[in-house]
Amino acid sequence: MKLARDPQGLTGLLGGARGEGLSIGLVPTMGFLHEGHLSLVDLARRRSDFVAVSIFVNPLQFGPGEDLDHYPRDLERDLALLEDRGVDLVFSPSVDAMYPLGPPQVTVDPGPMARRLCGQFRPDHFRGVLTVVARLFGLFRPDLAVFGQKDFQQAVLIRRMVQDLQLGVDVVMGPIVREDDGLALSSRNVYLSSKEREEAVGLREALLAVQSGFRQGARSVTRLLSILKEEVGRYPVLSLQYGEIVDPLTLEPISEAHAGAVAVLAAHCGRTRLIDNHILEN
Ligand code: PAJ
Repeated sequence: MKLARDPQGLTGLLGGARGEGLSIGLVPTMGFLHEGHLSLVDLARRRSDFVAVSIFVNPLQFGPGEDLDHYPRDLERDLALLEDRGVDLVFSPSVDAMYPLGPPQVTVDPGPMARRLCGQFRPDHFRGVLTVVARLFGLFRPDLAVFGQKDFQQAVLIRRMVQDLQLGVDVVMGPIVREDDGLALSSRNVYLSSKEREEAVGLREALLAVQSGFRQGARSVTRLLSILKEEVGRYPVLSLQYGEIVDPLTLEPISEAHAGAVAVLAAHCGRTRLIDNHILEN
């Protein structure tokens, strides 16, 4: 496994793969890897000849007062996990190496879908995400890039960016990997106290309650969201920021639920903000 610490090094190391005509699969991450990230690596491995992973905690996507300075990091452990998974190349630049001219002046305007859901509470977040992802696509020129359903809004916005700007990358969405009790894996779960960790499962329980209401025939989104809120309410440590059922392509709220629509939520668990979602099934 090769390691590049700056764009020059990266271009050199990718040249070989490109020269051999290998297809390149990219998995962008912010590191502190868990099985969720690694499942995306496996997906990329199955669908491309050469698998690259980026590890970069992107300052552009953190708002004032968010956890940029505390974001968990452990590069050595990450590299060992990726080597184990058969990754070909890791790109782990410093902030200066990634943005040598300083914070970019030209950024990606993520448009109206970025003002919904998480965007209501994290106003510049998706501009930061799309800008770094566009930059990574420019650096790697991957054939395929893999993102997790865990960050559903993010994956939908990246897909839309690729369509709208014709970036020519096949965007693949990998399923959510969960702990045994249903909590979605997240690098931020390390922030949870043991009491919070126990109650964090309430997010998943609320989504399952919506799914079960849907399966029993409930279609009214008002009704389904009241089920969701009631379930979250059973967990005193959780405070719901939003719970919605949306169209999977536009992220617009709908009034009648259907299979394929997505129940999405964000909640504070103590001081930690967690997100989760579920695609409704018949
Ligand atoms: P990060 O939070 O490190 O996540 C990297 C990728 O792993 C994302 O595509 C995310 O959706 C996916 N992921 C996280 N938890 C997962 C889980 N439990 N199951 C499956 N996939 C999961 O998302 C980012 O980084 C950044 O915003 C990034 C895209 C790298 C841009 O900076």
